Amino acid sequence: MNVKFEWWQKTTVYQIYPRSFKDSTGDGIGDLRGVIEKLDYLVELGIETIWFNPFYPSPQEDHGYDITNFVDVDPVYGTLADFDELLTKAHERGLKIILDMVLNHTSDKHPWFLESRSSRDNPKREWYIWREGRGKNGKKPPNNWKAMTGGCAWRYDETTEQWYYFHFLPFQPDLNMRNPEVKEAMFDACRFWLDRGVDGFRLDIFHATFVDAEFRDNPRCWTLLPGETHNRAFFQEHVYDLHRPENFEFAIELRKLIDEYSPPRFLVGEIQGTMDQLRRYYGPNNNGLNTVFIFPFSSIPMNPKKIHALVSEIENLLPPPYTPTYVYSNHDRMRMIYRFSNDPAKAKVMATLQLTLRGVPYIYYGEEIGMPQVKFSLRKSQDPVARKYWWMPITQSKRFGFSLTRDGCRTPMQWSADPNAGFSPDPEVKTWLKISKTYPKINVEIQETDPNSLLNFYRRLLKVRRDNIALQEGTLQLEPPSKTHLLYFRVHPDQTLAIILNFSKKQLVLPAPISTPSLIFSTHPKSQILLQYENSGDILLEPFECVILK
Ligand code: NOJ
Repeated sequence: MNVKFEWWQKTTVYQIYPRSFKDSTGDGIGDLRGVIEKLDYLVELGIETIWFNPFYPSPQEDHGYDITNFVDVDPVYGTLADFDELLTKAHERGLKIILDMVLNHTSDKHPWFLESRSSRDNPKREWYIWREGRGKNGKKPPNNWKAMTGGCAWRYDETTEQWYYFHFLPFQPDLNMRNPEVKEAMFDACRFWLDRGVDGFRLDIFHATFVDAEFRDNPRCWTLLPGETHNRAFFQEHVYDLHRPENFEFAIELRKLIDEYSPPRFLVGEIQGTMDQLRRYYGPNNNGLNTVFIFPFSSIPMNPKKIHALVSEIENLLPPPYTPTYVYSNHDRMRMIYRFSNDPAKAKVMATLQLTLRGVPYIYYGEEIGMPQVKFSLRKSQDPVARKYWWMPITQSKRFGFSLTRDGCRTPMQWSADPNAGFSPDPEVKTWLKISKTYPKINVEIQETDPNSLLNFYRRLLKVRRDNIALQEGTLQLEPPSKTHLLYFRVHPDQTLAIILNFSKKQLVLPAPISTPSLIFSTHPKSQILLQYENSGDILLEPFECVILK
């Protein structure tokens, strides 16, 4: 029996950080018309869906994750008419578009919050989470909850002498989603974009949307730093402020909302938690969020055994028709190639893995040319998280194991060797973040002319993915791992493909995984793999070579 696959189950997503993709006006900040200019580049690259980080009106204290109006475009990025044109032109080219929806919080400059904080009896008071303080005069926070960025998650407000709750940073007060008016307002915001034709949403810190109705203290623990697969941080177990049962129900409610639309739309949740928690957001019958980000993959080392273990775990947890996601980097994480010693050969191995597993891959803008992580001091960063920790000596901040400034992965796209990397039409303008010094060598224009470039590798592999049903709809069969390589099959009633990844810097001779193989893809444009097969029946992979055989 052939199972029907929806488009979003087999799509490939490209993430655009609008501030940094393409500046069309010359003010040094990327914008929507800049993206329109580059739509054909994306078509040629071969991705199928674009996810935009927020471009709604915002004071930009957290570069768009502090929203003052959910249903408009910030003038920095353009107008609603620009967005409509972008959406139409993307759809004409067969591209889908998903937006970032921040249901958890607003900016503290949002008119709703300005009203809410103005008096205790303001009609918008209950739109946010206000509590009496503890202790004498209520000057101690209502409970012990810590914010995701560290420190107390409550801020005292002198005007009304109560505390408001924020999960991320103090200028991002959390909405009170238990209030039906708030839920309706946010559903209306979703509908506003869905009615315009948007194809879905990425949901910001979805696991934090509901907090405990009784505001119980979180239990203490010994873990200081947050991690990918647990909910401990800053010496507490986040039991009462994250993953509350209402969050899982909310996932189902939101899915119902988007399922009212045709053609189908989809949701991807930004969720950090245990694998079991991630699974629960998909809903008991695959009726919750269509997908969630599986972040443990983004920190996986280049180690076949570890990769095998994690992918097996993901497959067990999310067997078909559940759809996993595979992501290496985004606007909050270090750039992918940085983790692989800035070596394009290694990046190709890891990208072949990502684009041939069963699930939806997310490519962060610039990943396709190997854009590097750029160094910024905490003091000179624009990222509000870095600003919070500006005082921390660099030696100390390195112990975190992740970057305390997110500026380093958000630098302007390197289009060419022209001044300002071709990002801005004004060669003199100071771009909002400095551009990596590597741009004369690492840029789109140069890589377009080199058949062996990372860019041309992505183009070729994305085409192979689009042209082969097994890579889109096939099940995944992993063979036992070895120290040097991974072998797996994508199996579809109409096609079986074998994928072999050589993780070592040595040549590898292996028995052919299928009889009379034919090569449909190699990371190495001049692969010799089949010559060896004709001689000996074995296949020979060059160092870091990855192939797809049928
Ligand atoms: C997660 C987003 O990815 C991040 O960039 C943002 O700062 C926080 N949520 C707060 O919205």
